[in-house]
Amino acid sequence: MIYEGKAVSAKFLDNGIAELCFDQQGESVNKFDQLTLRDLDEATKALAQEKDLKGVLVTSGKSVFIVGADIMEFTDMFKLPDEELKGWVREANGIFNRFEDLPVPTVAAINGIALGGGFEMCLACDYRVMSSKARVGLPEVKLGINPGFGGTVRLPRVIGPDNAMLWAATGNDQKPDAALKDGGVDAVVAPEKLKEAALDLLGKAIDGTFDYKARRQEKLEPVKLNDIERMMSFTTGKAMVAQQAGKNMPAPLTAAKSMEKNAALSRDEAIEVEIEHFAKLAKTPEAAALVGLFLNQQTLGKRNKQWENKAEPVNKAAVLGAGIMGGGIAYQSAYKGTPILMKDIADAGLDLGMSEATKLLAKRVDRGRMSGLQMGEVLSSIRPTLDYTGFDKADVVVEAVVENVKVKHAVLSECEQHIREDAVLASNTSTISITRLAEPLKRPENFCGMHFFNPVHQMPLVEVIRGEKTSDETVARVVKYATQMGKTPIVINDCPGFFVNRVLFPYFAGFDMMVRDGVDFRRIDKVMEKFGMPMGPAYLMDVVGIDTGFHAAEVMAEGFPDRMKHDYTGISELMFKADRYGQKNGIGFYRYEKDKKGKPRKTEDETALKMAADCAEKSIEITDEEIVARMMIPMCTETLRCLDENIVSCPEDADMGLIMGIGFPVFRGGALRYIDQMGAKAFCEMADKFAHLGKLYEPTENIRKMAENGETFFK
Ligand SMILES: NC(=O)c1ccc[n+]([C@@H]2O[C@H](COP(=O)([O-])OP(=O)(O)OC[C@H]3O[C@@H](n4cnc5c(N)ncnc54)[C@H](O)[C@@H]3O)[C@@H](O)[C@H]2O)c1
Repeated sequence: MIYEGKAVSAKFLDNGIAELCFDQQGESVNKFDQLTLRDLDEATKALAQEKDLKGVLVTSGKSVFIVGADIMEFTDMFKLPDEELKGWVREANGIFNRFEDLPVPTVAAINGIALGGGFEMCLACDYRVMSSKARVGLPEVKLGINPGFGGTVRLPRVIGPDNAMLWAATGNDQKPDAALKDGGVDAVVAPEKLKEAALDLLGKAIDGTFDYKARRQEKLEPVKLNDIERMMSFTTGKAMVAQQAGKNMPAPLTAAKSMEKNAALSRDEAIEVEIEHFAKLAKTPEAAALVGLFLNQQTLGKRNKQWENKAEPVNKAAVLGAGIMGGGIAYQSAYKGTPILMKDIADAGLDLGMSEATKLLAKRVDRGRMSGLQMGEVLSSIRPTLDYTGFDKADVVVEAVVENVKVKHAVLSECEQHIREDAVLASNTSTISITRLAEPLKRPENFCGMHFFNPVHQMPLVEVIRGEKTSDETVARVVKYATQMGKTPIVINDCPGFFVNRVLFPYFAGFDMMVRDGVDFRRIDKVMEKFGMPMGPAYLMDVVGIDTGFHAAEVMAEGFPDRMKHDYTGISELMFKADRYGQKNGIGFYRYEKDKKGKPRKTEDETALKMAADCAEKSIEITDEEIVARMMIPMCTETLRCLDENIVSCPEDADMGLIMGIGFPVFRGGALRYIDQMGAKAFCEMADKFAHLGKLYEPTENIRKMAENGETFFK
């Protein structure tokens, strides 16, 4: 044994070859944390002292190689004063450099995921051999940060700046064939051949067949381009990166700039440039939001795992109603491997549901993501039916018939008679209280909400709603089923609108009030899109369906009259009454015409503009910041209320729900992170300025207390 640590060990194999193995004790994966860095340092020092050492093979003892840096430790690090933070990164880079400088050839055998710091470790080796099952890449920009362990220095020197900018600026994982084509790895082999192939390559570097020193030298010198080539490459590269990333995401362009600035320098100077860029991004609100979101995701994932552990797998499912949602649910269930029965009352409904599923699958086949045979298998695992035959086999039945209490009561009670006593019944209602829907049921404990979003195959979120009588077993099984379907469930408590719609409709109410005050809805859309929303509120209403929105708003007004009932006729109501339902009938706030690919294309509509002008009671002067405030305050205060009332169980769930359910801008991290970043005090002051607009703009008692005490939701 050359070195034995808790995360890294080094031992001799044969012929002077040492194996440096990452295998962190007590963990299921390897990651770069302080312990691993320290171990790597010690192991490298020990290797350097071995006189008979001829080469080093770098391996992992886990199914992954190294997943990346330990994000938990990172967030604490980011809070350090600038110089301390830089000092820490400089020290870490020293370890990587010392490893790279070992006087013998080094080869990484990449058996699984090697991302971020994990791939930077591979780049510090002379050669890289990759298993056909592995993935490599530098995903740091997705967390709003810059690679920090030499990624922006070594990658452009290994694969050229054009490719390196693309890899680092998209942050995408690279599959083996792409990594090999770009030169990020030297060979791709079957998993069982990996060690043998890596040792073979190492042997050839030792015996001089391959000139590892020349290889290594390229990483120690400036990028091999003359001044003009360098300028051309980075000017075009940066323009492309900037365009793809947009203004709200500073990290991709910073990574490209780090490469540009370090390109003409030797390794050690180049690393200093990277450290500057790393420290700059680490302190941005975008990085805080994106890293926070990543941690929220992990918290939610762990909690969902606990639920899942309490449930058996769902082997067979059923859905009632083969409409937009029922068809989507059937497709998603079958596609992800849970066979499903799809019942409707009319053949026409069933045909529609099946044709939707067929269309989605055909698209996958066209894109080469699925074979015709697989498509056939998925389709045959959706069984359309007009009766309850086979329902006694279903573990979960999802009801997705029309949004009407009477119809739902009748359908649910009838269905309950045809399913097993232990089967779970769930409703995809978007507004009706789960406790109320459970009223006629014999087994209300086996009933809950399972709220999918439209379109089901695209939207990641499922709200699992617990009614008054819903049992833990029921929640657990539905969480399990949602996860099996590839969705992210969030368990919430019952109330009108549940969580996502409950906070979305106050946002729409804020919009209606602004149009009433004479603000052009096209401007509101533009401002909110600039804020980072995927689409402005008018456009979003058109996509959701103004009729659907109108009915949901009625439910919300009944549930929360103090803030959702209003005494004027808003623009959305006028649109609804004029049968302008949005995209579904081609006309709403905008007009929609199908383009050549059959996608609805949005254009302005004179009548909509006139309707908005007619319903304006005044014409106020307003800044863009005020538009954002008038839209965001109602959404934020309603989120705060949901937290106070335990509709969502924690701030992490609330922000995750908003990101996944309505596309809240990721670089802002969610509504509560948005309040945190502005400060609770500033938020209350901002809301108080709009007190004249009513209760929707009234800060909650708790946020006022937090403002007084200078508290935040997240660390
Ligand atoms: N469309 C959305 O954006 C959306 C989003 C989330 C949730 N939801 C909810 O999902 C549910 C379904 O909405 P949709 O948009 O798919 O409606 P839809 O009108 O497209 O489909 C409803 C289907 O139910 C069928 N049906 C009616 N009575 C039935 C019965 N007794 N047994 C079996 N089938 C019956 C109809 O024939 C129709 O095919 C509603 O509760 C809705 O609120 C809709």
